Amino acid sequence: MPASFLPQEIIRAKRDGRELSDAEVEWFVHGLTDGSIGDDQVAAFAMAVFFRGMSIRERVALTSSMAHSGTVLSWERSTIDGPLLDKHSTGGVGDKVSLVLAPLVAACGGVVPMISGRGLGHTGGTLDKLESIPGYDAQPDAARLRAAVQSAGCAVIGQTDDLAPADRRLYAIRDVTATVESIPLITASILSKKLAAGLDALVMDVKFGSGAFMETLDGAFDLAESIVAVAEGAGLRTTALLTDMNQVLGRAAGNAVEVLESIEWLTGSFSDARFDDVVLSLGSEMLVSGSLAPDLASARTMLERARRDGSACERFSRMVAALGGPSDLVERPRQYLGEAPVTIPVHPTREGYIESLDVRGVGMSVVLLGGGRRRVSDAVDPVVGLTEVRGVGERVDSSTPLAVVHARSQADAHQAADALRAAVRVVDQPMTPGSVIARRVARR
Ligand code: URA
Repeated sequence: MPASFLPQEIIRAKRDGRELSDAEVEWFVHGLTDGSIGDDQVAAFAMAVFFRGMSIRERVALTSSMAHSGTVLSWERSTIDGPLLDKHSTGGVGDKVSLVLAPLVAACGGVVPMISGRGLGHTGGTLDKLESIPGYDAQPDAARLRAAVQSAGCAVIGQTDDLAPADRRLYAIRDVTATVESIPLITASILSKKLAAGLDALVMDVKFGSGAFMETLDGAFDLAESIVAVAEGAGLRTTALLTDMNQVLGRAAGNAVEVLESIEWLTGSFSDARFDDVVLSLGSEMLVSGSLAPDLASARTMLERARRDGSACERFSRMVAALGGPSDLVERPRQYLGEAPVTIPVHPTREGYIESLDVRGVGMSVVLLGGGRRRVSDAVDPVVGLTEVRGVGERVDSSTPLAVVHARSQADAHQAADALRAAVRVVDQPMTPGSVIARRVARR
């Protein structure tokens, strides 16, 4: 690394709106990773980027440097039978897409090492969901990860400490300096981890709406455009779909309840038009990007077949077993996933049709039940959550509840029920919800 830069000069340049050179960005990320640049200077840099933004060229340099700040997974191509594909979501409530999409794409010839996260705020985390499966090892060592990928074609696991360590430090500092909501910094944070996973192609699910981290469609579009441009600039083929998070995705929100719903989706006993559309649309993008299908329509047909003929479910079973879970989970899910001691239906305060949901509020009702964290150190309760959650345009009354609450105690159940009622607006007239896929963003 050249020693000719001073952190304060780089911060000053960004503060004054100058475009940083690749060498300046690389040097700064080096200091961020080895700790030679202090928290104060990293915080000042993040705030300067927050106000001044970054050009696409600067974002590519930041993302690539962060991706190379730790281990970059290199896959032995002779042992991998297909393109390395992944999907990343900006997070939502009831978003169990990863659980079914990884095995579905694996059954169509993709290889999916999916690095997922824990719950953040009101949104659930894929890892917390998977950890409700007894024995499931979400932090496998490299040998177990490779064995799972070879046996199932997919492995949904957590981030290891050596993957993009610069992001871990920068994210922690952003979290306490009001600099999380910066599109260049979010872009670099998400993509550095994806580039470090050694992928061939990525599809992004960028959510908007009351349950999303970017509430407006315009904000989600800006983020999607940034991610697609920077990923392509860094050599990773990427497309993005903007999907609606003004409703819970599927009918369940929690941990074990979402694993159960995913297994029911894979075995064909559960379907939901919005959930199906999100899974199949994202999966189609992955198959086309990986050259496993010539176009989106044929890709969708392949995915539907892999669900119908049981091959996707078979991949899921193999993945669970290879990562230490029960090999007969799919045959006896309820036996392994457990049940909450208290279940109560939540009826609306008035009958009618659901006009809108504050999905953040619905997510917080799951957190109140113990299904998410109030503090980083909290353990997540696997069995609590919501099922049979109704969506926009559906009728609710004294016989059709808004949802069913699964709780540890009557007191918790009633507290969550009150939070849920407060999050739903019921009106006299039915209405038709908008399409769940709002837009596609791609370079070509
Ligand atoms: N997810 C990430 O990994 N990083 C961000 O900055 C925001 C969401």
